[in-house]
Amino acid sequence: MRKKIVAGNWKMNTSLAEGFSLAKEVIAGSSRVDQGVELVVIPPFTHLSEIVKLARGSRVRVGAQNCAQWPKGAYTGEVSASMLQSAGVEYVILGHSERREYFNETNRSLFEKLQLALQENLTPIFCCGEKLGEREAGQHFAVVEKQVAESLFGLETRQVQQVVIAYEPVWAIGTGKTATADQAQEMHAFIRGLLAGKYGSTLADSISILYGGSCKPSNAAELFAKPDVDGGLIGGASLVAADFIAIAGSF
Ligand code: PGA
Repeated sequence: MRKKIVAGNWKMNTSLAEGFSLAKEVIAGSSRVDQGVELVVIPPFTHLSEIVKLARGSRVRVGAQNCAQWPKGAYTGEVSASMLQSAGVEYVILGHSERREYFNETNRSLFEKLQLALQENLTPIFCCGEKLGEREAGQHFAVVEKQVAESLFGLETRQVQQVVIAYEPVWAIGTGKTATADQAQEMHAFIRGLLAGKYGSTLADSISILYGGSCKPSNAAELFAKPDVDGGLIGGASLVAADFIAIAGSF
């Protein structure tokens, strides 16, 4: 059975002290969440090693929001996959739509990042999803297929097995406009079908596909009830521990 995962993407929010308290509250609240659900907090880079130490011995895992597309060297301001690994980080978000939009991430550079993250035994949370105009033009399946094929399909089977996918329609991120549970299910099943076509259905059935985009306590249960929705990548609502825990308790 594939893993159920609820991951909180804090984005560029919280001071170190605020982040530390938030992580503490999540750890405290984690006892209210079914043991079968993996809980991941994804703070800014500056907070990672402190929060890794705090979370040690708890069930909460820690992730980063990005990593560099090069292993090391003269890339001022970048953080490598091996640095994250050395800090005790276990997950890394790759290809979030904000990074694609503001930092020119491409399907090709994400393929490089995926390989480096996997080499370091990090679990990538690979994000894909269409913009509003693309959905309105009926191109959403083609856009997601291109993202998945160009970034993932160069990976070997043993590598893809380690990847978590997050479907995040860009029009639903931070807008309060959630995809309906049926829209999410339709795209998740499509993505699983792409994986099955390339790697076989056993592998496709083992990959967790998370939904992201204005997921909150009031809509999580309906989304998570869908057969191909294996959890959520939560932005805004992950900044309030009680909301994050309520979402994780919605399976
Ligand atoms: P949101 O963000 O929950 O605030 O819409 C989700 C995400 O960007 O991962």
